Amino acid sequence: MFNNVTNTVIASLSDVSFSYKDKPILRSVSLEIRSGERLGIVGESGCGKSTLLKILAGLLSPDSGSATIYGKSTLSEIRKHVALVMQSPMLLPVTIYENITLGHEIPDERIHEVLKQASLLSWIESLPDGINTYLGDRADELSGGQAQRISIARALCKDAPILLLDEPTASLDSATAESVLSSLDAAAGKRTIVHVTHQVEYLKNYDRILHMKDGVLSEGGPAC
Ligand SMILES: Nc1ncnc2c1ncn2[C@@H]1O[C@H](COP(=O)(O)OP(=O)(O)OP(=O)(O)O)[C@@H](O)[C@H]1O
Ligand SMILES: [Mg+2]
Repeated sequence: MFNNVTNTVIASLSDVSFSYKDKPILRSVSLEIRSGERLGIVGESGCGKSTLLKILAGLLSPDSGSATIYGKSTLSEIRKHVALVMQSPMLLPVTIYENITLGHEIPDERIHEVLKQASLLSWIESLPDGINTYLGDRADELSGGQAQRISIARALCKDAPILLLDEPTASLDSATAESVLSSLDAAAGKRTIVHVTHQVEYLKNYDRILHMKDGVLSEGGPAC
């Protein structure tokens, strides 16, 4: 437990159902997330975990039911309050700096801090153009870990109160994964975290672990 949890519910799903075409994915999912809570979600591949996170991130709208964050339910309002690290990192054909800041003005000290937190500093300092390295034609030359750490730095830079992590360490070896996760733990501070993972051991300090099976979310049940 991180003892940051308050009684204030900042995000909630109420009876949310979602289908891709006519294939039901989420079935009447209800969830209340409190400020400062660290919530883990586990479940078999294909059960709907990423879909759930995309709804919490404001990337998808429920077919029925509602998703709200700070009482707001429009996708643009929801997106303001969350930062998402996706399962497969998405890098843009711009510099590392622009991939991290996404065009927002961020003080240099803050950039330096997030590079450290995402364990990127020594690698970036070793590049001839440093953080101004253009990723246009070179994105393929990055390791999965480097690409994922750039997307973690991007999420930390956003300073949103809710951090959504979709298997952020799936492309990392176990030593790097543990080091990135412990940096993320420290960097997240009092932020609320929803962390989807197949590795329940990464959730040992979490406040709550939920299990998803065939689009139904429940407390308890076997870890996968
Ligand atoms: N864009 C899409 N169009 C159609 N079907 C999709 C789409 N995205 C996901 N699905 C399907 O929806 C189901 C749930 O996918 P989702 O990505 O939420 O699962 P998951 O629990 O995150 O799985 P994993 O652990 O493998 O990441 C899967 O059957 C998947 O094939
Ligand atoms: Mg997934």
